[in-house]
Amino acid sequence: MSKIATLEVDGQKIELPVITGSENESAIDINKLRDLTGIITIDPGYKNSGSCKSEITFLDGELGILRYRGYSIEDLAEKASFLEVSYLLIFGELPTAQQLEQFETDIKKHTLVNEEMKNIIDGFPKTAHPMGVLSALTSALTAFNPKAVNVDNEKEMYEAICKTMGKFLVIATWTYRKSMGYPLNYYDNTKGYVENFMHLMFQLPTGPYKANPIIVDALDKLFILHADHEQNCSTSTVRMVGSSHAGLFASISAGVSALWGPLHGGANQAVLEMLEEINKDGGDTEKFLAKAKDKNDPFRLMGFGHRVYKNFDPRARIIKKAAKEVLETLGVEDPILEIAKKLEAAALEDEYFKSRNLYPNVDFYSGIIYRALGIPTDMFTVMFAIGRLPGWIAQWKEMRENKEPIGRPRQIYTGHPLREFKSNK
Ligand code: CMC
Repeated sequence: MSKIATLEVDGQKIELPVITGSENESAIDINKLRDLTGIITIDPGYKNSGSCKSEITFLDGELGILRYRGYSIEDLAEKASFLEVSYLLIFGELPTAQQLEQFETDIKKHTLVNEEMKNIIDGFPKTAHPMGVLSALTSALTAFNPKAVNVDNEKEMYEAICKTMGKFLVIATWTYRKSMGYPLNYYDNTKGYVENFMHLMFQLPTGPYKANPIIVDALDKLFILHADHEQNCSTSTVRMVGSSHAGLFASISAGVSALWGPLHGGANQAVLEMLEEINKDGGDTEKFLAKAKDKNDPFRLMGFGHRVYKNFDPRARIIKKAAKEVLETLGVEDPILEIAKKLEAAALEDEYFKSRNLYPNVDFYSGIIYRALGIPTDMFTVMFAIGRLPGWIAQWKEMRENKEPIGRPRQIYTGHPLREFKSNK
């Protein structure tokens, strides 16, 4: 039997339908609220508001569950490849061997980036943050691919997806090459997608380069863990921008900017910088814990807390284990890992963190692996963006296919009432 919510405003009672998802999450559908009562709801930060129905990712923050298209993140991280997961997220089902091969082949058709894009990247100073450059370059791709994709045309949509997957990886690595003053590299179509990331980043004209398969496997897993996370800040941005029927590249460029902030994807860089600072300061984790608890101090324990998870972020568990394995396999001894473990243990025992359900999130340990793999700190959030790309594409596609209306929230105006104009000059 379908549920109903009853609301009483100024003596007027109205009934609102309650919708239920496939995992029994419920939502009051307020679509007709303003028409019926003249009032709206307000929910800054959307803490209680769903923006859409989605079939892509399920997450239960209380139980610490994350699934893509019904498959657990643990299974996918263990058994699937990043391109396989990308296909799953975007098209809804796991690919057959033949579909996967075709997908990879089709992405390779679009891995060449227009040479004129190099003029654009040349305009940036070497010191520019890679995320700023990535956002600008992604947006610039629109200039070289001006035709807006017709989402109702399956072939066009498929080509746009392959193009985005192919070119984004290349320009993401160009942001690093630029910052180092290295010549920009080309995708090597004889190599796999994640292996190409290493090649694009680190192969120099001065000699041969062979990516370490342990590193390629670790990165593959990290990209899977970042591939989607339902309606987070950057994904909501991608859907919102796309809801005005702006193109895929423009929407993803906006998503990159949203991801950059330290409360979102930028936290992975901030975590490592924080751990380095603690290390330099002599390793006193208690001192930094106290700072994080002090309401007069703006310092927050980066990599801790999550809007949705009130339990362990399942991705953090997998990454913590992977970080230990990668460091051991590569024979890297990093004091930063010890500080991270100490900080985590202390926070998990601390009443402030316990009472607020603040647990380590995906970003807490990812930077430690990236560092061990030789990825520079200010590229960490770019790594997140590469991983998140298939999720953004899948969510953009779903939003357009569902013919969602333009995203346009309302507000409660709290400014001046009408006042007469009198010049202050
Ligand atoms: N350190 C210290 N206190 C914290 C922290 C933290 N990392 N996170 C939350 N709190 C406190 C906060 O001060 C508040 O306390 P009180 O109730 O006394 O006012 C309470 O916990 C609830 O926090 P909130 O800011 O209302 O929660 P939110 O859902 O708005 O914010 C968050 C979630 C992720 C932005 C926040 O936990 C945070 O800033 N964490 C650090 C940054 C970080 O690691 N971000 C990565 C998130 S996961 C990956 C991603 O999304 O990209």
